[in-house]
Amino acid sequence: MAWEVVRYLVEPRQWTVLPADWTALFGRPAPLAVEIGFGNGEFLAELARERPHWNLVGFEVALTCLKKAGTRLAQAGVENVRLARVDGKFALRELFPAESVEEVYLNFPCPWPKARHAPRRLVDREFVRILAGVLAPRGKFFLTTDVDWYAQNAAQVLREDGGFSLRGPRPLGEGGPGTRYERKWRREGRPIFRLEAEKVAGREHVRIAEGEMPHVKLTQQVRKEEVEALVGLKESWPGGAFVVKGAYWNPAGEEGLLRVFATDQGFQQQYFLAVVRGAGGWMVKLDGATVPFRTPAVKRSVVQVAAVLEGRKP
Ligand SMILES: C[S@@+](CC[C@H](N)C(=O)[O-])C[C@H]1O[C@@H](n2cnc3c(N)ncnc32)[C@H](O)[C@@H]1O
Repeated sequence: MAWEVVRYLVEPRQWTVLPADWTALFGRPAPLAVEIGFGNGEFLAELARERPHWNLVGFEVALTCLKKAGTRLAQAGVENVRLARVDGKFALRELFPAESVEEVYLNFPCPWPKARHAPRRLVDREFVRILAGVLAPRGKFFLTTDVDWYAQNAAQVLREDGGFSLRGPRPLGEGGPGTRYERKWRREGRPIFRLEAEKVAGREHVRIAEGEMPHVKLTQQVRKEEVEALVGLKESWPGGAFVVKGAYWNPAGEEGLLRVFATDQGFQQQYFLAVVRGAGGWMVKLDGATVPFRTPAVKRSVVQVAAVLEGRKP
């Protein structure tokens, strides 16, 4: 049943404090494990059953996967799992305190074989830096894939980081994660590879998002034409950018809405900024209809829109 996922779902975009306090969230202290791209949730369900004394967190981007995983977890009767619809790389960096995660699992990540799609691959230098910051001492990362070169590339990046001791990649006979993709590739006779990396040296864990909602008060009133003129406003800097893509004016009230695209180190978000008149005068703030993570690019867009409305150059 589609509603079962609600029992397991968490909404990190709504959290006003980051990183999360997972002990409070689960209602108990326990070792933490994370799965990125859990698909139909078979692996999480099995792990949760095997380790009732662990807290497990899964991240997915596909809505249908969340629904299917929710059903599977409910069928398994497990309670020690939370699921979120968030990019796994971003979530791993932003939602966990330094050295707080014991294990991270990645089962059959999309390999993105074309060179032009390479930036979409999950395991890269940045991912490994995040792992080195967020994994507990001796914490482990497990990659299972049918793609030999993906496993080799991952091993190379982990080796270059210098903070990990590796096992593999090696062919995996039995004992895979038991997921839909494992079954699919085994049916096709593809070999499966497992890479295991244990953290042996720490690294500073640098996060970029905050819980607090940015807003800027304006000293003067705003007109429709001024809001509409904001379309095309953009700014970019090393690691980030934003652009205002659309502007809307509510004819029934004094209120403007801006559609904004922002990116922080490759993590993209789309959201609305509201230009509204409240009790204390006009202000620019995040509109409640879309709640992005409060990253540097999101905060910058609020500040710059306000600066233009106040007649200052961005
Ligand atoms: C090839 S499927 C594997 C699914 C599952 N792990 C399995 O073994 O059956 C890859 C999954 O990763 C998810 N995914 C892709 N990029 C992601 C990301 N950045 N964060 C979280 N999930 C992601 C996709 O939606 C998809 O469900």
